[in-house]
Amino acid sequence: MILANPEECTDLENTDPPTLSPPGNAQRIVRIGHRGAAGHAPENTIAGIRAGISLGVDFVELDVQRTRDGRLVVIHDSYVDRTTNGAGPVSDLTWEELQQLDAGHGERVPSVEAALAAASGHAGVMLEVKAPGIGPELHRLVQASAFPGPVLYASFLHAEILAIRKLDPLATTLALMECVPLSGPAFALDAGASMVGLAHDSATPEFIATLHRAGLGVFLYTANEPAQIGRAIALGTDGVISDYPDRIPTIRPI
Ligand code: G3P
Ligand code: CA
Repeated sequence: MILANPEECTDLENTDPPTLSPPGNAQRIVRIGHRGAAGHAPENTIAGIRAGISLGVDFVELDVQRTRDGRLVVIHDSYVDRTTNGAGPVSDLTWEELQQLDAGHGERVPSVEAALAAASGHAGVMLEVKAPGIGPELHRLVQASAFPGPVLYASFLHAEILAIRKLDPLATTLALMECVPLSGPAFALDAGASMVGLAHDSATPEFIATLHRAGLGVFLYTANEPAQIGRAIALGTDGVISDYPDRIPTIRPI
């Protein structure tokens, strides 16, 4: 993961109960299955996408890297070591070589095309650009597919989502951030983003309200424990990204 520059962040880590009740938020909470539904099935696999769908997610969140021979594939790390039985950088392997690896329970590392086909008609996709320079290519691939949407392009690499937005002013993009930045919503607005994804344990109700006032939707990641999910909702988030999307209520508790 490429982290936000710590110098741009406040040093506030907020794990206290929120003191503000968020005004004006829609009652519906968007449920996003993190890496498919990583608490239930191997992350970033077709089984994971199907698990998320079976749990009723609105979106499956998936991470995108590129192989040596230019195939866009769904895997989180730049190395295959953690999530497969192989070793080395994704960018050193060809598509064929990658397909020899076990990504958990016999699953293979999926292509983006296969992931879109698995989600098609069942859930939206939140595609996180993990490698520099692949944003426009990812957008082209999605446009060329029959995927009916919705599609959300996300990244910590804000130049990637800006590039997508320039290609397609109608694309929905989400700027990821580890922390509350000193510059307020500028990081997302400058990237042309329509949404922000913020680490749940650094989010504050004040910053979420500021993002909403700037016209930005907000998702919090990665909230897995029921108390974390409850706090994220109480902070005023529009959606929760979780390995356990089944733990996210669909309607905001009163
Ligand atoms: O969607 C946000 C979240 O997925 C970012 O963190 O490391 O799980 O990709 P990571
Ligand atoms: Ca991700």
